Amino acid sequence: MPETPIPIRSFGRTRSRTIKPMQAALIDTLLPRIALDPLSGPLDPDRLMPGAAEVWLEIGFGGGEHMAAQAAQRDEVLVLGAEPFWNGAASALRHIDEAGLANVRLYVGDARALLTALPDAALERVFILFPDPWPKLRHHKRRLIQPETVEALARTLGPGGRLRFASDWSDYIDWTLERFARSPHFRWTAERADDWRRPPADHVSTRYEEKRLGDIDPVWLEFERI
Ligand SMILES: C[S@@+](CC[C@H](N)C(=O)[O-])C[C@H]1O[C@@H](n2cnc3c(N)ncnc32)[C@H](O)[C@@H]1O
Repeated sequence: MPETPIPIRSFGRTRSRTIKPMQAALIDTLLPRIALDPLSGPLDPDRLMPGAAEVWLEIGFGGGEHMAAQAAQRDEVLVLGAEPFWNGAASALRHIDEAGLANVRLYVGDARALLTALPDAALERVFILFPDPWPKLRHHKRRLIQPETVEALARTLGPGGRLRFASDWSDYIDWTLERFARSPHFRWTAERADDWRRPPADHVSTRYEEKRLGDIDPVWLEFERI
C-alpha cells in the first residue's frame, strides 16, 4: 500500500452525547461483523461481498439514513461507508440492524484512509453529501475536497463511475466545481439548471440537508469518471 502523509483533519468532533444503550450494544455485536480496517492493509471488495454487482462508497454518512436507504434499494450492491463520528456510526448501525441489511460495511474513521486501501477502479459510485463546509477562509484547508482527494477518487472510481456531491454552501459548490474542473479525470454531467437545482431521482434526504444551515438551497453536482 502506498505511504501517504496523514491529511489535515476535515471533520469536527468524533463523539458527542452518550450513545444510547441499544446503539452501544450494536457497536459491540454488529460493528465487529461489518467493520472495515483500512489501516491494516489493502482491502479486496471481492472478499467483502463475493459476487457484488457494484461497489458504492458514502463519505461522511452522518447518521447513516441515506446510506442505509440506498443499500436497501440495491441489495446486490456492496455499500461502503466511512464516518469518524461515533454517534453517527451508532445511528447507522441501528438503521442497518432494523432493515436487516447484509450489504453494508463501515469504517469509523477518515474516508481518505479507506480510499488509500482500495484497489484502482474499485468503485462505481461515491456519495459526498453536505460535507463540513468549513466556511472561514483559514479553515478552507480542512475541506474534504482538495486536489489530493480528487486524485484519490479518480484512482478508485472506475471509468464511467459517478460521484455525487451536494452542499447548501455556495462557496463550497464553486470550490468543488473548480477542483473537479481542474482534473482531467472528471466530467460534470449537468446539462440544464434543474440538474443541479433538483435532488436526483434516487436521492434520500439527509439530516444535514434538512437543517438548511447553508446560504443557498441545496445544489447537486454529479461528476462522471472519464
Ligand atoms: C455536515 S455532516 C453531513 C453528514 C451527512 N452526510 C448528512 O448529510 O446528514 C459531514 C460529515 O462528514 C464527516 N466527515 C468529515 N470529514 C470526513 C472524512 N475525511 N471521512 C469521513 N467522514 C468525514 C463528518 O464527521 C460529518 O459527520
